[in-house]
Amino acid sequence: MGNVTVIGAQWGDEGKGKIVDWLASRADMVVRFQGGHNAGHTLVVEGKTYKLSLLPSGIVTGTPSVVGNGVVLDPWALKSEVERIRDQGVEVTPELLMVADNCPLILPIHRDLDALREDASGAGKIGTTRRGIGPAYEDKVGRRAIRVCDLADLGDLDPMLDRLCAHHDALRAGFNEPPVDRRRLKNDLAEIAGFVLPFARPVWREIDNARRNGKRILFEGAQGVLLDVDHGTYPFVTSSNTVAGTVASGSGTGPSAAGFVLGITKAYTTRVGSGPFPTEQDNDVGQTLGTRGREFGTVTGRKRRCGWFDAVLVRQAVAVGGVTGIALTKLDVLDTLDTVKVCTGYKLDGQDLDYLPAHAADQARVEPVFEEIKGWEASTEGARSWADLPARAIKYVRRIEELIRCPVALVSTSPERDDTILVRDPFAG
Ligand code: IMP
Repeated sequence: MGNVTVIGAQWGDEGKGKIVDWLASRADMVVRFQGGHNAGHTLVVEGKTYKLSLLPSGIVTGTPSVVGNGVVLDPWALKSEVERIRDQGVEVTPELLMVADNCPLILPIHRDLDALREDASGAGKIGTTRRGIGPAYEDKVGRRAIRVCDLADLGDLDPMLDRLCAHHDALRAGFNEPPVDRRRLKNDLAEIAGFVLPFARPVWREIDNARRNGKRILFEGAQGVLLDVDHGTYPFVTSSNTVAGTVASGSGTGPSAAGFVLGITKAYTTRVGSGPFPTEQDNDVGQTLGTRGREFGTVTGRKRRCGWFDAVLVRQAVAVGGVTGIALTKLDVLDTLDTVKVCTGYKLDGQDLDYLPAHAADQARVEPVFEEIKGWEASTEGARSWADLPARAIKYVRRIEELIRCPVALVSTSPERDDTILVRDPFAG
């Protein structure tokens, strides 16, 4: 039995929550390795709904859960999320929740900067979650971040805060904002330190021990490959690498730890925020998909943009993301349609393209080439085996596999954990 890595193979919101929850219940450890509380996972366990942003999904099932160094951690968001799920009866102890001591922090000044930039960008805005994700990653690579371990020795914090605030003061001045209130920031950090530090440790050692003892680890990705800072629809992306390769650097282990890479893929496409979306349906079809699929963001409540399945994008995500098999979700959302379309290629200036070009302007201009497939017009909801699916729905799934050059490992047919067709067990490799 090997490890499993779950990543989104589109623009996030592919329905990772349910799949991760199912896998987490069979794992010995769950590790988040990138992103922050911009992510939103909804888990339904025994009829109870849990909304998680920062915490690894294993926490709900009592599986040891790790926040890796590749995550950017807002300690106040962590506290309120922990308090919220404790109120729902979930136990969160330092034995169950481990936070990388080298994890960079998201501070209120990062949230400020995220919002200031978005508000100043007009039509060019990225449509971020305004959680301070991008500015926090900038400070990490700029080598001026405050990290979890820094909270242990507040006496040493002053020169670090000086460096960090000098940088932010200059940026804030450009927005006519007052300088950072350093005393308040330091006091806030001193106050939150007592909450965070009991969870802090060198998590790479925990992961190393787990691997040496043959434990099954689930690496839980956030967002999706098309939001990857290198491989996504730049600049309309998040600020981390969302591909499976990030498992290694984002948690302190080697690349072979990733194991089976399960790419979560919706049977159609959605996106929140700005940026190119070649198969978007700003019409009745998009409306139907949004309504039937309940397409509203878990974190921001924003309405998601909806469109047909884009095989070009998912094929690319499979390749750059390192996907071994896909989990196809929300097939039932297409149940009522008499025709279903799949994008099989693009046209750009009269030329055929079988990939998404890197240039943002080209990405915005490509025109999708659609293949029409007759809809199955029957319910697939709750199907648990191929035999439960209408023949035309199976044909749709098989066509997707062919176009994206990757097999389906799971098909999810409702938010319920057991409403899943298991083709290949990811933990079996
Ligand atoms: P940021 O990650 O908040 O900087 O936002 C950058 C882009 O990523 C925006 O388009 C967001 O809508 C998108 N994004 C960030 N996190 C998620 C997610 O968990 N699901 C879907 N989109 C996301």
